[in-house]
Parts: sequence; C-alpha cells; structure tokens
Amino acid sequence: MTQASALKQRDILVTSALPYANGPIHLGHLLEYIQTDIWVRYQKLRGQNCHYVCADDAHGTAIMLRAEREGITSEALIARINQEHQQDFSGFHIRFDNYYSTHSQENRTFSEYIYRQLQENGHIATRKITQSFDPEKNMFLADRFIKGTCPKCKTEDQYGDNCEACGATYTPAELISPRSAVSGATPIEKESEHYFFRLPEFSDFLKQWTRSGTLQPQVANKLAEWLDAGLQEWDISRDAPYFGFEIPDAPGKYFYVWLDAPIGYLASFKNLCDREGIDFDHFWNADSTAEVYHFIGKDIINFHALFWPAMLHSAGFRTPTAVYAHGFVTVNGKKMSKSRGTFIMARTYLDHLDPEYLRYYFAAKLTGSVDDMDLNLEDFALRVNADLVGKVVNIASRCAGFITKKFDGRLGSVTEAEKLAAFVSAGDEIAQFYETREFGRAMRRIMELADVANQYVNDEQPWVVAKEDGGEEKLQAICTNALNMFYLLMTYLAPVLPKTAEASEEFLRAALDWNNRNQRLENHEINRFKPLMSRVDMKQIETMLEASKDEMLAATGATPAKPGDSAPAHEPVAEEIEFGDFAKVDLRVAEIVKAEHVEGADKLLRLTLNIGEDQRNVFAGIKSAYSPEQLQGRLTVMVANLKPRKMKFGMSEGMVLAAGPGGKDIFILSPDSGATPGMRIM
Ligand code: MSP
Ligand code: ZN
Repeated sequence: MTQASALKQRDILVTSALPYANGPIHLGHLLEYIQTDIWVRYQKLRGQNCHYVCADDAHGTAIMLRAEREGITSEALIARINQEHQQDFSGFHIRFDNYYSTHSQENRTFSEYIYRQLQENGHIATRKITQSFDPEKNMFLADRFIKGTCPKCKTEDQYGDNCEACGATYTPAELISPRSAVSGATPIEKESEHYFFRLPEFSDFLKQWTRSGTLQPQVANKLAEWLDAGLQEWDISRDAPYFGFEIPDAPGKYFYVWLDAPIGYLASFKNLCDREGIDFDHFWNADSTAEVYHFIGKDIINFHALFWPAMLHSAGFRTPTAVYAHGFVTVNGKKMSKSRGTFIMARTYLDHLDPEYLRYYFAAKLTGSVDDMDLNLEDFALRVNADLVGKVVNIASRCAGFITKKFDGRLGSVTEAEKLAAFVSAGDEIAQFYETREFGRAMRRIMELADVANQYVNDEQPWVVAKEDGGEEKLQAICTNALNMFYLLMTYLAPVLPKTAEASEEFLRAALDWNNRNQRLENHEINRFKPLMSRVDMKQIETMLEASKDEMLAATGATPAKPGDSAPAHEPVAEEIEFGDFAKVDLRVAEIVKAEHVEGADKLLRLTLNIGEDQRNVFAGIKSAYSPEQLQGRLTVMVANLKPRKMKFGMSEGMVLAAGPGGKDIFILSPDSGATPGMRIM
C-alpha cells in the first residue's frame, strides 16, 4: 500500500485569476499562473484529487472598443485571444484541466441564477445615478475614458481620474475641457438606472469570514480596515452598448464584467465536470467538504474576499477555503516598462529562453506572502546556472557516464543508506513548504540536498576510483548512490520543472513518485545521459530585451491593458530632455515610395522612404490605420539619424513619426502640406 492511499485523498479545486481577453500574457501574469501550477502539480504528485481551472475574462468596454478598432466582432477578438493565451500558458507548462471563457453558456446560466438568488433574497437595489455620457458614441464613459487638462498643473491630455504629470487625483468633472477618449466629443451628464448589490448587509458575515483563516494575515488586516470604515453598495450594472450578459428582465442593462468574472470559475469547472463526469455539487454545495482555493494578485483582493464570498453566501453556495494573494512583478527593481523592453510578453520570452528557468526563478523567490517580487535578470541567470545546471543536473552528468561506459548502463547497490534516508525524510519538510506556498524555502532545502550530493561526489572522486585497479565495485556504488540522490532531488523539483522531470524519468527509466520515494534504484538499468538543461547566457537575455522593445514598437495600438473598463494602458510621460538632446534629432520629410506587409507582424508595415539624397528601409507600426496602398506616394516625417536597428524582420534605418491615440487613428503628414522629400523640420 502506498503512503497516499493510507491517507484520505483530498478533493481540491484550484483557480487562477481569469486574464483579460484584451491583451497578451506577460511575465507579470506568469508569476500567478506559475505559482498556481506548481501548487497544483504538487497536489497531484501527492495523489490528491485536484482540479485546476481558468478562463479568459472576456467581457467589458475595453474589449468591445478594441474589437471595434480592429474592425472585428467582440466574439472574434476573444476567440483569437483565447487561443493566444492558451498557447502562451502551455509554452510555460501551465497545465489547466480546463481553460474556458466567461463568454460561455454555462457562465450566462450561473450569472443569471446567482443574480436571481440575490434578488429573491433582497440583496439587489436599484436607483438612478448620473454619469458622464458620450453624446456622439451614445455611451456612458467610465472615468478612464475621459481625458482633459489637469485642474492642478494644467497638463493637457490626462485621463479622467489622475494626472500622470503631477500625480493629482480628481473626478472627471474637475478636468478642464474634458472630452471622450473614445470619440473626442465633449461629455454630457446623463442619468440612468443602475443595479446594486447590497454589500453592507454582509458586513457581519464578512467580518467573520475574513478572520476565519481564509486569508493571509496581511490581507485580513487590510480588509479589516475597509470593513471598519463601512462597506458601500456595489454597482453591478452597465448600460448598453456593453459586451457582456444582459441582466434578466432589465433590457439594455448588462452585468458589470466583475460580476460575471468570478462566476467564470464556476462555469469553467462546470464545463470540466460535464466533460469528465465530476460531481460539481460535491465541490460547491453549501456544506461541501471539498477544498476550493483562488490564487490571485493583490490588486484584486476586494473582488475575491468581499464581493465574491458575499455573493456565494447569498446564493447558497459554499465560500472558498482560502484566497491566496501574491505581489506584483518588477523587472530589475522597476515597474515593467515598454521603453526599457522589460514589459516582456510570454511569447517574447519563449522565443529566447527556456520556460523552466523562469519557473525555477519564481519558485526560488516565492513566499506565502503578498510581497512584490523582483525579477532581476542578472540574478536570474546566475541563480539558474548555479542551482539547476551547476548543482542538480551536474550530479547526474558527473556519474552517468561511468554507469553507461563501465557497467552497461546498470546501477549496482546503494551503500549510503543513511545519507539517502536523510534525503527521503527531508521530503516531509519540503512537502510542508510546497503546501504553504513557501516555494523559496522548498527550493533552498532542495539545493542544500544538492550540495550534500555534490560534496559526496567530490569526496569520493569517482574519476580517481575509475582508474584504480579493482575499483569497479566501489565506482558503481558511488555512482549508484549519487544517482539515487539525483532521483530524489528531481522528485522534489518535479512540480517546478515538469519537462526536466520527464527527461529525468526517461534517463533513469523510473517514475518520479513522491509517495513511494523510499524505493531505491538498484541493479536497475538506466539510459544514456543526455544534457538535461543548458546554461542561460546573458546574451540571450539582452537579445530578448531588444526583441521586446521591437515588439512594443510593432504593436502600436495593442498596448497591454489593465482593468476591463479602462482605456489602453499608457507609459508615464517621457522624462525631460535638454535642448541639446533634441537638437541632435535630424527630422526630415520623407516620401513613402513603397509600403508593404511584413509577414508575421500584426502591426508593422515595411516602408521604403525617399529623403532626397537617399532611400531608407523603415518598419512602422501603423498597419492598424493604413493599408499599404493608402500610403504609397504620401509624405511623412522621419527621424533620419536614428542608429539602424536590427529587428526580427530586418534592418530598420530610421523611424516614422505619426500622431494619434493608435488603432485606426494614427496620422501622418497631410498630403497637401506643401512639404517636399528631404526637407528638414525645424
Ligand atoms: N480579469 C481580472 C481577473 C478576474 S478573476 C475573476 C484581471 N485580469 S488581469 O489580466 O489584469 O490579471 C490577471 C492576474 O494577473 C491578476 O491576478 C493580476 O493580479 C495578475 N497580474 C497582472 N499583472 C501582474 C504583475 N505585474 N505582477 C504579478 N501579477 C500580476 O485582473
Ligand atoms: Zn497635473
């Protein structure tokens, strides 16, 4: 009987937050999906009945507007993004049992059901509110869709809730000459009826729930402050036009994206249950004995630890066993930045580096807390090379050759039973670290064991023994001991390094089985050793950063966007430069003599530019606004003395200047500007 079957198997449902369907997956997101995936893989390796579900968060204004800009339906956009997201996740070995969409039949059904329950229980209120309205687009505008001049410092073109120049926060009504970021029209005030979830009625329930061990202490403390300050009713409706689910018996009113997003957890799980014959109710009934965990980022705690448990409670479902929040990723100590190339997309990373490097680095730095995590790229390379390549894989590569060459691939007997017993018992400690999401401590403990193993090989010097007469038996024993140590190390690393774990199983011809880790590999044939992992080279990282900058250029208009209701994210205002810096820029009028599509680039066009004395090849991210035919023969302004830059698609010898918010609205010089090619701009 295995150790697992002696204990009762746990029924566990795990979720990660549902990424917005309006932008690509980046390394910040990946902290969460990697953290969750490691935890889930760990549970599964221990024999638990664990299900991991996720989905795209497909609703909201931002998605609707982006689809409009691209000239496609919202449905077509979310279908494409769903595919891209799934490819990115599988590239990082994130193994969901189901990856779905909130724009699904199951989610509609659950959302309507829960809403009706809330209504029946008297937890829904309606009242009229006044909001900014775009009279041209005929839509209400969230604060982030209103721009204007900052009332404090008078900087133009600031979003409706805060100023990026002086940091002031205000309401859109305080903006000087406000206008709609969607159409440019001046917003008017308009009244409409909204639906509210009566959250204050759940104050007592939530005070108790948030203190019942469901949350990390830091999080519970933060929430206690909010709870003491008093809760507000939550506005759960949005007026048409909106991409989402219409509210039953309320024509023209839609569920706010954050109402149906967490319900998406239920919907994705239901979809899995129906496919695999799992008992949904066993997991979600009010008296369920199964465990439910939500892994989320710290920015969305209120949705998961206030609104969501209150909704579930009112609607007669169980509440989550725990909500685990993590912090935010910074790169090289700073917020991820497009201009520095540190806003790294999952895809860009995968084009240059092994996903297991990042899985290990995140694991090595993760704790159970909500602290932010810095991805220091130099430290990343050092850590991966020192630990994985230098310590773990090294044990196998130092010993495997002797077994293959001298013993026909056969291991002998273990002679260091005590040392190995210590490796086995360390597994209990490591298990506890995984369970409590102290992955960093787990990795440190594993590396301590790796040090022991390497020290053992150093002390025994198999390469010396190999030359001794009659040293055969000893040599085989040393290598057998060391490879059994490696076997255990890989068993403990399997949740973090699934591919290397697989390759190790293939090499050792044995399954990595945590619950049966008392089994030694003795008198057992192994395969020839193939390098399991290569070193990270700083050059690969530099190339990735360069590529990341290029992609940001190529993706004009497709800025990675935050919350469902916000306008596209934007970079902080550029830093001030000296006049001398500006004077160095050689701006010229250029004639576009040729414009062509670039294979494999969503946003880029290849332009051949005539600036009088010579011709230049330049890539420009303006495809969303112009077709090549429209551009040929037109004039534009270019930076003529920009250092040529090798991009993924070829050399770019300059940069084209254009103005506008992006998407379909990118403007180059007017054809009747009177300018001629080569003319200097002053
Ligand atoms: N759609 C909502 C979640 C709905 S859950 C019912 C959302 N989407 S998101 O795409 O913006 O973020 C998805 C997850 O990634 C969130 O948990 C968020 O905290 C996390 N992260 C996004 N950027 C991050 C970093 N830079 N660092 C760490 N996690 C980050 O929020
Ligand atoms: Zn300001």
